[in-house]
Amino acid sequence: MTEQPRDPATEVHRIADPSATRVASYLATPDEVSRVLLLYSGGLDTSVMLKWIQDEYEAEVVALTVNLGQPGEDYEVVKGKAMRLGALDCHVVDARAEFAAEYVLPAIKANADYGDGYPLFTALGRPLIAKLAVEYARRTGCDTIAHGCTGKGNDQVRIEGTVATLAPELKVIAPVRSWAMGRDEEIAYARKHGIPVKGGTESAPYSIDDNLWGRSSEGKWIEDLAHAPDDDVFQLVTRPELAPDEAQVVEIEFEAGAPVALDGERLGLVELIEKTAEIGMRHGIGILDHIEDRIVGLKVRDIYEVPAAAIILAAHKELERLTGTIHQNQFKPRLDQKWAYLVYAGLWWEPLREDIEAYVNHVNARVTGTIGLKLYKGHVRVVTRASVNAVYDAQLATFAESGGLFSQQASPGFIEIWSLQSRMAQRLHSGEQG
Ligand code: ARG
Repeated sequence: MTEQPRDPATEVHRIADPSATRVASYLATPDEVSRVLLLYSGGLDTSVMLKWIQDEYEAEVVALTVNLGQPGEDYEVVKGKAMRLGALDCHVVDARAEFAAEYVLPAIKANADYGDGYPLFTALGRPLIAKLAVEYARRTGCDTIAHGCTGKGNDQVRIEGTVATLAPELKVIAPVRSWAMGRDEEIAYARKHGIPVKGGTESAPYSIDDNLWGRSSEGKWIEDLAHAPDDDVFQLVTRPELAPDEAQVVEIEFEAGAPVALDGERLGLVELIEKTAEIGMRHGIGILDHIEDRIVGLKVRDIYEVPAAAIILAAHKELERLTGTIHQNQFKPRLDQKWAYLVYAGLWWEPLREDIEAYVNHVNARVTGTIGLKLYKGHVRVVTRASVNAVYDAQLATFAESGGLFSQQASPGFIEIWSLQSRMAQRLHSGEQG
């Protein structure tokens, strides 16, 4: 752009121009929207949106539905619904393998956990979904990406942050944030436009998000912190009190930090996660009633069901501890925590994430071996460990003997020096008092 002489009249005009006053450069003004890539789930919000965008913006809509291993989803039904609502096309992408290899695996290696227990399944899925939205928007000639996130959650940050980072030429609209329809108005809109509302319309259902790494439920009584979980929220994991009376031991084998076999059977990561989840679900594993600090400052409660993550992360952590030295084991959790926070906070594309992964991968090169875990009524407990890289020598660890790398005769000398500063401080301190 060339420098224009300042003219107060055009200055005023510039400020009144909506494109100059919008809060973010990537948000679309109505005149910029002519073909929209809609991230479509088939639920009420995005179904209403599919129709609403065509009407409000007089724009075409291309729908994109991403399969990240949500249990029990029928993608033919979702696609049929999108087409009936007037989508130009509905692309269904099976991204499970990419999700597992590029998003869940780094999370396993980083023992990913936000806020003491949330294994980040939603947070891991969003940057991939948004990356695919960018790819399909470009491929199908869309100028704008639309999603169904609200203005209070984390997911808007993760999706829009990804689009703004990867595709500065694309714009975003977030109708739920701006259309000021409550659930009742949405249902009325759906009825008026012949949009089927699944699961009845009597009361709002739980707000669920899931993929192969876990499921979250929000809404309804969950917002009442004094309300203990109603049984009907647990759609995935058997409640521990109903789990079998017999414990089950599972063995997970890792190579360089990646889970490669379950009970001796070599499996691809997607299948390994799905099969581990099935076993965990039966035994009531991975239920979490969690208070969480969102990126946008709100504190919220989530009910999580993470059967596969609860088992695989416990196994990975144990194997990593066995193959690392005390110093590595004290240091890595700090990086892991930073990794998890970056991912939770929607900064998947922040270079620091990959910097941290360079270290995490280096450590994980040695994380090879097998961990056995006993599952019983909601509990996971490591019971066996085996690794060629274990920094462990049964000979050295037994109580009685000396020899090899360890001399018991050397211990008193070590203790005298190890306690030096404590002894000096103690002497000063007792001198002060005396
Ligand atoms: N609290 C979790 C997170 O921020 C789960 C969010 C689930 N998303 C949803 N739209 N229901 O990652």
